[in-house]
Amino acid sequence: MTLLDVQDLSVAFVRRGEAAVRAVDGVSFTVDAGQVVGLVGESGCGKSVTSLAIMGLLPRRGVELGGKAVFDGTDLFGLAPRDMRDVRGKDVAMIFQDPLSSLNPVIPIGLQVTEVLKRHRGMKGDAAGREAADLLDRVGIPDPKRRLKEYPHQLSGGMRQRALIAMAVACRPRLLIADEPTTALDVTIQAQILELLKDLVHEFGTALIMITHDLGVVAGMCDTVNVLYSGRIIETAARRPLFAAPLHPYTHGLLGSIPRLDALESEPLTPIRGSVRDALPWASGCAFQPRCDRPVEACVGAPPELDATFTGHEYRCVNPVRHSND
Ligand SMILES: Nc1ncnc2c1ncn2[C@@H]1O[C@H](COP(=O)(O)OP(=O)(O)O)[C@@H](O)[C@H]1O
Ligand SMILES: [Mg+2]
Repeated sequence: MTLLDVQDLSVAFVRRGEAAVRAVDGVSFTVDAGQVVGLVGESGCGKSVTSLAIMGLLPRRGVELGGKAVFDGTDLFGLAPRDMRDVRGKDVAMIFQDPLSSLNPVIPIGLQVTEVLKRHRGMKGDAAGREAADLLDRVGIPDPKRRLKEYPHQLSGGMRQRALIAMAVACRPRLLIADEPTTALDVTIQAQILELLKDLVHEFGTALIMITHDLGVVAGMCDTVNVLYSGRIIETAARRPLFAAPLHPYTHGLLGSIPRLDALESEPLTPIRGSVRDALPWASGCAFQPRCDRPVEACVGAPPELDATFTGHEYRCVNPVRHSND
């Protein structure tokens, strides 16, 4: 069952006297109930703006919003701010990169978790306190009764992110959006947090949109992966075909720049040359063309359409990477 259907989402930031910044440019994807969907791309490609748009957290002024985000039959963009607030926290929750800025620094962790339980699950006093302790325990925070009384600054970065995850899952959302939830953490802690997220979505049947710049992060957990470049989806596939046979040179390049345990020692890591700032405007061709190692004449002129293989693997490229077992 489709839980979230994002259709032709576009977001432009407009300032008087300046050219509009088209941060998201016709993005469509779906999330099924209980599914884990990756949204991957380098910094600045529009991942956070996409998630903020879905959550109704973009400012109204200076923003042109287009398209739809239909959650369980309701177009979120048509909701009054009040109704959107109800959806947020109850049906859809979000975890941000920096847990410190998402937690209130002057309120003990416990109170922040119980607040969510009281507001969204109608729990009271002792019951809410017990459930909060149970949740902290569930996300792997040792000695939860003591931790409940502590303030965010008394917890380590990894523990703070766990507390935030506890708050996010406290009201059993049907959809969780995690925006680079492990980027600010040490590598070993990163792996633990990813494992925790994986367990929780499995246990509660929550759907998850996993946003990251690191394909390595989605490799172990996503059912399908959407790769974004310069505000557009340039490749979509189930996890296995995407990693086994990426079709877009950008995805191929991203995969070539992450270390693989099974690679031969002599295989060098190859970063993608240039940066997202070198993007061509989509109106004049493929945005990735200036950085691409497979450019052909047809890349420039008109923007490439999204094509699909017979297995449903979609790609936006006129000269896709060929794989020998095709
Ligand atoms: N408030 C804003 N005003 C103008 N441009 C913005 C604003 N927020 C984001 N952008 C631009 O939108 C693009 C996408 O940003 P973002 O979604 O944050 O990227 P990502 O999360 O993939 O790193 C970037 O080019 C960024 O500079
Ligand atoms: Mg971001």
